[in-house]
Amino acid sequence: MSTVQDYIDKNIETFQGQLFELLRIPSVSTDSSRKSDVQKAAGFLSTQLKEIGLDKVTVHETPGHPIITAEKIVNENRPTVLIYGHYDVQPPDPEELWDTPPFEPTIKNGRVYARGASDDKGQSFTHIKSVESYLQTGTELPVNVKFILEGEEEIGSPNLVPFIKENKDLLSCDMVLISDTAMFGEDQPSITYGLRGLAYMEVHVQGPNRDLHSGVYGGAVNNPANVLADIISKLKDEDGVIQIDGFYDDVEPLTPEMREAYSKLPHDEEAYKKDLDLKEVFGEKGYSTLERASARPTLDVNGLWSGYQKEGAKTVLPAKASAKISMRLVPDQHPDKIAKLFEKQVLSLAPDSVTVNVEAHHGGHPVVIDLDYYGLKAAAQAFEDVYEKEALYSREGGSIPIVADFQKILGVNSILMGFGLTKDALHSPNESFSLKDFHRGIKTSARFLELLPEYS
Ligand code: BES
Ligand code: ZN
Repeated sequence: MSTVQDYIDKNIETFQGQLFELLRIPSVSTDSSRKSDVQKAAGFLSTQLKEIGLDKVTVHETPGHPIITAEKIVNENRPTVLIYGHYDVQPPDPEELWDTPPFEPTIKNGRVYARGASDDKGQSFTHIKSVESYLQTGTELPVNVKFILEGEEEIGSPNLVPFIKENKDLLSCDMVLISDTAMFGEDQPSITYGLRGLAYMEVHVQGPNRDLHSGVYGGAVNNPANVLADIISKLKDEDGVIQIDGFYDDVEPLTPEMREAYSKLPHDEEAYKKDLDLKEVFGEKGYSTLERASARPTLDVNGLWSGYQKEGAKTVLPAKASAKISMRLVPDQHPDKIAKLFEKQVLSLAPDSVTVNVEAHHGGHPVVIDLDYYGLKAAAQAFEDVYEKEALYSREGGSIPIVADFQKILGVNSILMGFGLTKDALHSPNESFSLKDFHRGIKTSARFLELLPEYS
């Protein structure tokens, strides 16, 4: 093993340089003008997978962005790990708030700043380099390894589920390994055993057939912006409880044991508030911040637009108002059912003086992985060996919808071995990733592959 770990230490600068090359490609999946850049990122990664010595490296075209697969089967009797990652990134907007250009990786205080540095180029690249460290040192891989890298995670993976359904043999495995989550804190390795699901909605309120003079018509015609604000305000009460009929019906309650485990996790509420420049936190009454942010469902406006937004004042009664609203879900809430309940509730709140329309965007199922799963134990040990600190187990509030699909279609659990931190600023300006965690991540991945046969 030390040959592999030595190779990682000796080559870490080369690995960083390669990661930076990937970070320079603006593979923003939601932006159609970036389609060729997403292709370019797929090309870069497939070349990497070939160069490190994997077999059957294939770039599968889809109606959207490509899916890359590759494998190294050493022995049919050994466990097979399917490594998943995504090479698409969120848009850099608002770009003016970046201190350095989002697609020009810049090192500051041991961190690399770039869109996708943590989510998920930096994190998923750790596994490519870990597998390289076996293949390029002539050390036999302790397990069979497969890769699946997609370019549409940030837009809800529309082409991945059909791909998995059609390629069950190609992807057959004993478990999935994913690094696309965060650790509990700096130098505090953690295994994520739960993720929330998602139902993402859009609401449009149409009033009169054109924008009106707010003096001439104001008071006599209902204002879609006022109506939308009113509807939104009725979706949650002052205790943070969501007011959609049936919303909580399938929510698995937190058991006293689960709550006890939550209370033991290190959390500094004052530091949490200070980091966000907030006087107070807010959430569902009766639950702690950690519970609210990972084990309870939410409803949040993600975008809101109507009326005049430029400089100065314009007296106008807008004809339309719209909002994007997402709900994070927990077991056993079903995204389609929640989307329907949301639509029904919003329509029931709409007055006849306007027309309200509700659309559903992508969704995703929540997941919780059994803490007794042997893969989690091997991952925890690998973390402990590299970080020299015992790993914690935590649930997270973000979503990786494909995790539930892997469970349903391939019948396998996912091991969420995150090397990120909440301070990485995912989806925000100035996203970054610790280069120390990039290095330790590669080592943890390599150690995990080594330990796994002992645990299976
Ligand atoms: N890497 C994140 C998910 C994540 C972040 C999990 C932090 C746990 C902690 C992922 O790339 C992401 O942002 N997913 C989207 C999913 C959506 C677009 C379907 C999300 O959570 O908003
Ligand atoms: Zn991600």
